[in-house]
Amino acid sequence: MARSRLPRIAFDFVDGGVDGEEGLGWNAQVFRKYSLLPRYCMDVSKRDQSVTLFGHSYSSPFGICPMGILGLFRHGTDLMLAEAAAAANVPYVMSSTSNASLEEAVKVAPNNTWFQIYTTRDETISFDLIRRAREAGIQNLLITVDVPVSVRRERNMRNGFSRPLRVTPRIALESIAHPGWVYSYFKNGGLPLMANFAPYAKPGATADEVADVYSTQIPNSGQTWSLVENIRKAWPHNLIIKGILHPDDAARAVGLGANGLLVSNHGGRQLDRAPAPIEMLAEIRAAVGDEIPLLVDSGIRRGADIIIARCLGATMGLFGRPAVFGAVAGGVAGVSKVMSILRAQIDTNLGQMGCSRFEDLGIQFLRDRR
Ligand SMILES: Cc1cc2nc3c(=O)[nH]c(=O)nc-3n(C[C@H](O)[C@H](O)[C@H](O)COP(=O)(O)O)c2cc1C
Repeated sequence: MARSRLPRIAFDFVDGGVDGEEGLGWNAQVFRKYSLLPRYCMDVSKRDQSVTLFGHSYSSPFGICPMGILGLFRHGTDLMLAEAAAAANVPYVMSSTSNASLEEAVKVAPNNTWFQIYTTRDETISFDLIRRAREAGIQNLLITVDVPVSVRRERNMRNGFSRPLRVTPRIALESIAHPGWVYSYFKNGGLPLMANFAPYAKPGATADEVADVYSTQIPNSGQTWSLVENIRKAWPHNLIIKGILHPDDAARAVGLGANGLLVSNHGGRQLDRAPAPIEMLAEIRAAVGDEIPLLVDSGIRRGADIIIARCLGATMGLFGRPAVFGAVAGGVAGVSKVMSILRAQIDTNLGQMGCSRFEDLGIQFLRDRR
């Protein structure tokens, strides 16, 4: 449904990967390497998929990962994700490059909003975002480390996704074919403002001027672990490092005080030939020990994927694109529908596997198909 509602240039921005999109395909395929080995004649009449993470009990072992500029695809998407996540009692990670502000998200989902930052070239911006997150009462902060440089998203290049947009004949035709999206885009003022970044532009800056500020700040190719360490010192609550793939980086992040890791390859959007996070989970778990929560994203599309991730050592699985597609297709109800499908799939898989508690899943339930 989302595909039919969006002009191709917009749909492809969400759906696409980087370079030849090998990583994007592999993220989904890698789950097929594993089978789930069931046990029968276990009492599974009551099944529990809740997980306790950072002292909070979440109703399902999944959450929504941070995604920027979602207002481009449907006006108000950020807060739709927040609302649906709060209703399902799962985490919603707001991106610092979202269109709603973190303060607005906290109003909608006070117990479920987490916040993600990239480090900025002018470090005072990162530290100010952290101050705002702290003052808004956020408990869980993510630093995304896997965007050290800008990359070539070839679908965007082919589609002419650029700022300012040059209206080519193809873009004009696509727009005519999607009048609902075009109407909503102009009705809501065109390019949506990156609300979290607006305070770092001049007063009254347009969305374009705020986007200019953003592009002078990110990517921060000079970022190092010592900056991560300084952020650790400035942030009094849970710190999660997002984008970890190497077990040594995992150990280093935990060594400098991270409370959790999000093992991720950015949904195949940064380093095309990176391993799928699911392949690195067992090694990372071995490197950091049993106590550190490991979250995983990139390619999670079904409840069984989250179960496989759990068997390999993950605490929780996050997903990105399915949430956006749900919002584009059906607003808050669409996002809730995506989550209810995942929830039902996890529930039947647990029953079918003879494991009544998600948290009891482990490697004993997994077989390598090969
Ligand atoms: C449209 C879009 C925007 C994204 N923006 C961000 C972002 O601002 N910060 C970030 O850390 N990751 C961002 N990501 C990556 C996601 O957080 C996540 O790692 C990825 O989407 C997971 O893969 P999946 O979409 O296959 O579930 C973005 C992904 C998408 C699809």
